[in-house]
Amino acid sequence: MDEIKKIIIDSIKKVLENDEIQVEEYIEKPKDSSMGDFAFPCFKLASVYKRSPMEIAKELYEKLTALNLEGVGKIEAVGAYINFFADSNVIASQVISKVLSKGEEYLKSDLGKGKTVCIDYSSPNIAKPFHIGHLRTTIIGAALYNLYKALGYRTVGINHLGDYGTQFGYVIEGYKRWKDEYDLDTEPIKSLVSIYVRISALAKEDESVIELARENFAKLEQGDKETVELWSKFRELSIKEYKRIYEKLDIEFDSYNGEAFYNDKMDEIVDILEQKQVLTESEGAKVVNLKKEKVPCMILKSNGSTTYATRDLAAVLFRKREYDFEKCIYVTGGEQMLHFKQVFEVAEHIVGKDVAQGLVHVPFGMVLGSDGKKFSTRKGASATIEGVLDEAIEKSRETLIQKGKDVEIEETAKKIGIGAVIFNDLKNSRIKDEVFDLDDMLKFEGETGPYVQYTFVRTNSILEKAGGLPSQVNASLLKEKEELELIKKIADLENVMKQAAEEYEPSVLTRYVIEVATLFSKFYNECQVIVEDEELKNARLALVYSTGVVIKGVLGILGIKCPDKM
Ligand code: ARG
Repeated sequence: MDEIKKIIIDSIKKVLENDEIQVEEYIEKPKDSSMGDFAFPCFKLASVYKRSPMEIAKELYEKLTALNLEGVGKIEAVGAYINFFADSNVIASQVISKVLSKGEEYLKSDLGKGKTVCIDYSSPNIAKPFHIGHLRTTIIGAALYNLYKALGYRTVGINHLGDYGTQFGYVIEGYKRWKDEYDLDTEPIKSLVSIYVRISALAKEDESVIELARENFAKLEQGDKETVELWSKFRELSIKEYKRIYEKLDIEFDSYNGEAFYNDKMDEIVDILEQKQVLTESEGAKVVNLKKEKVPCMILKSNGSTTYATRDLAAVLFRKREYDFEKCIYVTGGEQMLHFKQVFEVAEHIVGKDVAQGLVHVPFGMVLGSDGKKFSTRKGASATIEGVLDEAIEKSRETLIQKGKDVEIEETAKKIGIGAVIFNDLKNSRIKDEVFDLDDMLKFEGETGPYVQYTFVRTNSILEKAGGLPSQVNASLLKEKEELELIKKIADLENVMKQAAEEYEPSVLTRYVIEVATLFSKFYNECQVIVEDEELKNARLALVYSTGVVIKGVLGILGIKCPDKM
């Protein structure tokens, strides 16, 4: 499709003979395909040629038609627009031959070659629960990571762990008192959270606890050996447990540099801000006043300690030096909007305006239960996020057994269960609240992960029955409406991926893959694949294969695996 677009742009330029006119920028893709695959509006030319846009469109239309453009089936002038209809034979041949020759590589591009994108995501807080919001940042972040990678960027996945802060003073205090009551080795997250909750409650009754917690934290800051060892043990054990969740989702990070990593890197930030004379006193604290935000960004608290923002500023500088990123993307809940606005503005003083422009906050909405209230994990086995994931797998397992499917149950249930959770999370624009209803997301029909996976499985079994993929294909035989619509969708993939990346919006891909699945069903209902006519059969098989490649590839980017059978 891009080849055809280029031919159209070049020929409009040729006909206009005017370098000033930005043809590339004016050309549009009509929403409604009855208006063509590309459209060129002539409004902006009216002032240049001092004639009505309609007249200009008409004249251009005549000149362009005379050129007999390759790959363009039909041109029309409608009002002020010239509409171009791609020649479906040409598209079909181009797309199908590209998928056939590239296979899974069809989803790869080199758009981002030589550029680096850092993605800061997941980033749970030690001694605080790994809640459903963290599951969202993990899923969205991983999808963006895979997407940018597929587009040819170098990607750096960073887990900016909340591994520092006064809560450690409390946890250490609680641990000293009750360590025998908890099983930190097997259940670190749960134990640390319980200890934290318990000691915080005690601190409300007994002020001396606050003092002791403060002392512990001061010791940690001063590098007291025993305290640091405890902190480090809590951190290690927690990471080990997080990794178990990440493994279920098949996610790996390139860096686990969390907040603590920046402890020795914050003086430089304070120095820079002082040098630039942007640091001001406010009630004993040091802050930077902002132009774009009313609330100043606090750099040093009145007791001299640094803040979450200071650590993020140190992280910006470190990442710039270490990775030389083009973009650094932060995936967190919408409630951190102000924090990132503040950090990004102050970052202009640290790394300069240009670099700071590459800092992007990608917020997302809340998770609601099926009752419309804020989602909360239930008691028992599904009381943790890991438990929820296991429950999704368990339910898929039951369905597979119930339906009497002849498949490798364990592996398939995992792919379906986890896939359903991921798909549900990415189904709507991320800023919308998500409804988390396991039964609903695990359905085999409707806009669900299992439905799309199942469509892939169908493509697979059609090919299997036909004895595999033909080597010779004449795709111009694909002329039915359902065939052409599916082909055009497949041809659109690269644009869709670009759009999803530009908008940091995996739902663009989810919507797309649902459309592919739906168009495939229509095609399969209307056009028999295994027909007498060998040539037509081969062309249709190639379309089936291409659909499978696209579905599996897009799901893969989203973080969802496709079973071969289900
Ligand atoms: N730990 C934070 C939280 O759970 C998220 C950190 C996001 N990343 C960052 N660089 N601030 O809310």
